[in-house]
Amino acid sequence: MKCVIFLICALLANFVYSETVVADELEDAKLLIAKNVLNNYIVEGLNLTIKYTIHNIGSSPALNVKLQDENFPAEYFEYASGFNVAQWGRIPPKSNVDHVVVVSPKLPGMFNLTSAVVTYLPSEKASKVQTGYSTELGEVYIQKLSDYNRRYASQTINWILFIIIASPSILIPYFLWNSSKSKYQKSKKLKKSN
Ligand SMILES: *[C@@H]1O[C@H](CO)[C@@H](O)[C@H](O)[C@H]1NC(C)=O
Ligand SMILES: *[C@@H]1O[C@H](CO)[C@@H](O)[C@H](O)[C@H]1NC(C)=O
Repeated sequence: MKCVIFLICALLANFVYSETVVADELEDAKLLIAKNVLNNYIVEGLNLTIKYTIHNIGSSPALNVKLQDENFPAEYFEYASGFNVAQWGRIPPKSNVDHVVVVSPKLPGMFNLTSAVVTYLPSEKASKVQTGYSTELGEVYIQKLSDYNRRYASQTINWILFIIIASPSILIPYFLWNSSKSKYQKSKKLKKSN
């Protein structure tokens, strides 16, 4: 019995202890950064939309927040909208902000989508700048525009063929039903006139 009570106390103490550690750690601002591609296909010369979401999971506002992404240099990408740097004076605790850019890959081939970097002050009192990194997506394949067009076009042709092939199985029963209906109606009319 004593043994059980001791065990429960030990567990409780441990629980309280870990709660306070977590609370201390989260008193400052803490930013989690996600970097996502919103397109299903990554194609040379076509728009690629990248969305960054910064979440402050801490208990203080994050100050002087600066997001920077050097992943899309001018030799390989063109920015169609947005910039590789974004800034926020303050991100309140338990809130998030988004940044969206549209880039267009200049060349096909394998490409590494790497992390964006975020710097911030974790509280009003803090003087030491914190650095955070976004999720990274790793290697992706940028399709040739001509390959993408060919594949897309062949899918369209497949659909048209499917509709042509499938149409008799829809249309023939319809005509049969329609002609039997009109025959039936005719015979009904004849009966009435008799
Ligand atoms: C690419 O995105 C830019 C900015 O959003 C837009 O002006 C342009 O028309 C887009 N181009 C294509 C091909 O969708
Ligand atoms: C992407 O990064 C990985 C790991 O750093 C590396 O092994 C790979 O060669 C890179 N791929 C390209 C296309 O740069």
